[in-house]
Amino acid sequence: MSATPATPSASEEAREWSGHTLEVRDLQVSVADGLVAVRDVSFAIRRGESVGLVGESGSGKTLTCRAVLGLLPATGHVDAGRIVLGDGDDAVELTGARRSTWDRVRATRIGAVFQDPASYLNPSLTVGHQLAEQLRTKRGLSRGEAHDRAVELFAEVGLHDPAGVFHQYPHQLSGGMLQRVLIAIAVSCDPELLIADEATTALDVVIQAEILALLRRLRDTHGLSLLLVTHDLAVVAESCDRILVMYGGQVVESGPTDEVLRNPRHPYTQALMGVATIGDWGRRRLDVIPGQPPAAGAQMPGCRFAPRCALATPDCTAGPVPVVDLGAGRTSRCLLADQLGDRAGDGAGSQSGHQPGRHPGRHVAHLDDQAVPA
Ligand SMILES: Nc1ncnc2c1ncn2[C@@H]1O[C@H](COP(=O)(O)OP(=O)(O)OP(=O)(O)O)[C@@H](O)[C@H]1O
Ligand code: SF4
Ligand SMILES: [Mg+2]
Repeated sequence: MSATPATPSASEEAREWSGHTLEVRDLQVSVADGLVAVRDVSFAIRRGESVGLVGESGSGKTLTCRAVLGLLPATGHVDAGRIVLGDGDDAVELTGARRSTWDRVRATRIGAVFQDPASYLNPSLTVGHQLAEQLRTKRGLSRGEAHDRAVELFAEVGLHDPAGVFHQYPHQLSGGMLQRVLIAIAVSCDPELLIADEATTALDVVIQAEILALLRRLRDTHGLSLLLVTHDLAVVAESCDRILVMYGGQVVESGPTDEVLRNPRHPYTQALMGVATIGDWGRRRLDVIPGQPPAAGAQMPGCRFAPRCALATPDCTAGPVPVVDLGAGRTSRCLLADQLGDRAGDGAGSQSGHQPGRHPGRHVAHLDDQAVPA
């Protein structure tokens, strides 16, 4: 196992890496009737860092984000774990926080954008009014100041004729324009963390690329940390410093994006790489892997991927599988993590660019022979 610390890239060094923006430890979230849908999830996001959260549909990505935002569905509940925003004197414990804490933190310290921007806007108010209202209530700006700042923000997120857009209603704007409006609202109070849950999934590829470029620019200009949920590994490859791979409610692999995509060390990540060339695999069944992902609440004594894993042994189902620290900022929740991947290439100095789909299922013998669905 490589224990050599990773050498920061030039872009990493250029950014501010002091401290954590978010720390999630041992998070467990249950939904209807106490079904556990997110279990034992731990990760941290450093200041100015972009983290991509990927995994099949139902793996727990949205519930994890909503737990951080304090916006779980009515039946949802954080059973265990800690969520801490910021560090040092600015640290706020969000687990079990009062409603007043959430009201203060949301919008001012955490912004969020989701897949369907229209459903987060009031159809009977102009988009400018909605942004200006946020600036007045959260930042205490006067009516005139809020108008001027809203127009500035609309310009910053790339809306043409921002003064004109101010007076338009949501139904008068395209999906891409609405997402820009939502992003303007999300960053209007200079949050330290922006959560984007499939914010570009419904957009065509050109607009998607523009929105992703906008998020990267805002990360740099506003010093934001980004948690980007997506089904598209190419999006993570382009936009994220680190990747978290979720399966069955758990993070099964994490690490620097380049390293994980070039040299995955968990059979599930390897399988995802095998279908990455077909782009957005999220809503498809991963037919290339026999079997189904576990449902929320499914009780399994050992590895949750075992029923679908070509490498499973009796040890894998004998008891809980711990997260293995692979060094160089990488982890894998697999008993065989030490034997998987090109371990010699891990860690410092590994500069080769990853190419999603380049090594489909390389270390999972059964997968190599499966046809990738068209
Ligand atoms: N309100 C709810 N009531 C009951 N079960 C829920 C609820 N919300 C989510 N779940 C279940 O929790 C699990 C995780 O859901 P979640 O929405 O976090 O998945 P996801 O990874 O975001 O999936 P997708 O890629 O489809 O958005 C799923 O099994 C889902 O069915
Ligand atoms: S622990 Fe065993 S079953 Fe789980 S991913 Fe690793 S090899 Fe496969
Ligand atoms: Mg989701």
